[in-house]
Amino acid sequence: MVVGAGMAASANDDPIESRQAIMKNVGAAMQVAGNMARGEAEFESRAALMALRTLNSSIIGFTQILSRGSDEGDTQGASRDLGEHGRFPVARRCAAEASAAAIEAEPQDLSSFQAVFGPVGQSCGACHEDYRRPQD
Ligand code: HEC
Repeated sequence: MVVGAGMAASANDDPIESRQAIMKNVGAAMQVAGNMARGEAEFESRAALMALRTLNSSIIGFTQILSRGSDEGDTQGASRDLGEHGRFPVARRCAAEASAAAIEAEPQDLSSFQAVFGPVGQSCGACHEDYRRPQD
């Protein structure tokens, strides 16, 4: 492991850092996909699929590293039974299912991509509303 390589490159035991690194990947993939969906970048089916796959695998992994006591410190993770109860599993499943459905559709043109990407975008806010604190 490279010391000081920063959050994006490190997969260490700190649940907060790991969580934030994963969500940064989600954000980056979202930017690529969102630019294409809005017509601000040219649609490219392989890039679209890669962004969708990144979103899907990140969301799946995200839930695995939520643990008790990891809601204190430099984190926007909200304290409400992170990953254990309540709406969190629902929100995670929605996001994972929306991205899985989008992958399965293998969109080959912009309009079919837009159709499957919409629900993926909506799934972000559904979880953030309850489980992500606003930045201080
Ligand atoms: C299952 C819940 C859940 C879903 C679904 C989800 N997020 Fe998040 N997201 C979180 C939580 C919790 C945090 C705060 C993590 C922390 O600070 O420890 C977060 C943080 C972030 C961050 C800030 C990362 C950082 O620290 O710089 C970005 C960007 C982000 N999410 C984008 C997205 C996008 C885009 C989607 C949809 C594709 C999405 N999220 C879906 C729960 C979720």
